[in-house]
Amino acid sequence: MSATVLLTNEHRVIERIIPVLIKGAATMASSEKVDVVFIDRITDFFRSYSDRCHHGKEEDILFRALAEKQLSPRHRKSMNDLAEEHVYIRKQIAQLALQKEAFLHGNKTGVTGAVGVLNSLAAFYPKHIDKEDNHFFTPAMDYLSAAEQDGIIRQFAEFDRKLFQEKYAALVEEMEKA
Ligand SMILES: [Fe+2]
Ligand SMILES: [Fe+2]
Repeated sequence: MSATVLLTNEHRVIERIIPVLIKGAATMASSEKVDVVFIDRITDFFRSYSDRCHHGKEEDILFRALAEKQLSPRHRKSMNDLAEEHVYIRKQIAQLALQKEAFLHGNKTGVTGAVGVLNSLAAFYPKHIDKEDNHFFTPAMDYLSAAEQDGIIRQFAEFDRKLFQEKYAALVEEMEKA
């Protein structure tokens, strides 16, 4: 399996959350309440899977390897734009958590705020995936030798392995402090 197939497989998981976001937003809009458990699960999905696990592989492994190559100006710009989009997605998730907190503190604007974030993420993320799947990954791999591509696959596997340990070690630490 190639490195890009591993990343596009993760996209197939992430895109399945999009209809869930839209449905959750519609339910919260009609009930005029923030579904706290739903927001916590969505926040965990985006922070742990989409950002730490998936964007982590893209930025810390693939983009880092590509940064050392003589990328064409167009490809370098695409890579920088994609990393910027990760920042935007990260901010949206932080905003979602803030809107939930606002609602829990009795602020009704938390509902419209959370609904807005869910709908904008649902609109934004598929475009980010399309850029990577259909316009960036394939030309990007041409800059890497077969041996470099194999190295990336090994780093991906090691990254995933560490992440699982890290997530639950952090959870224990957090619960010990509570
Ligand atoms: Fe990405
Ligand atoms: Fe991606």
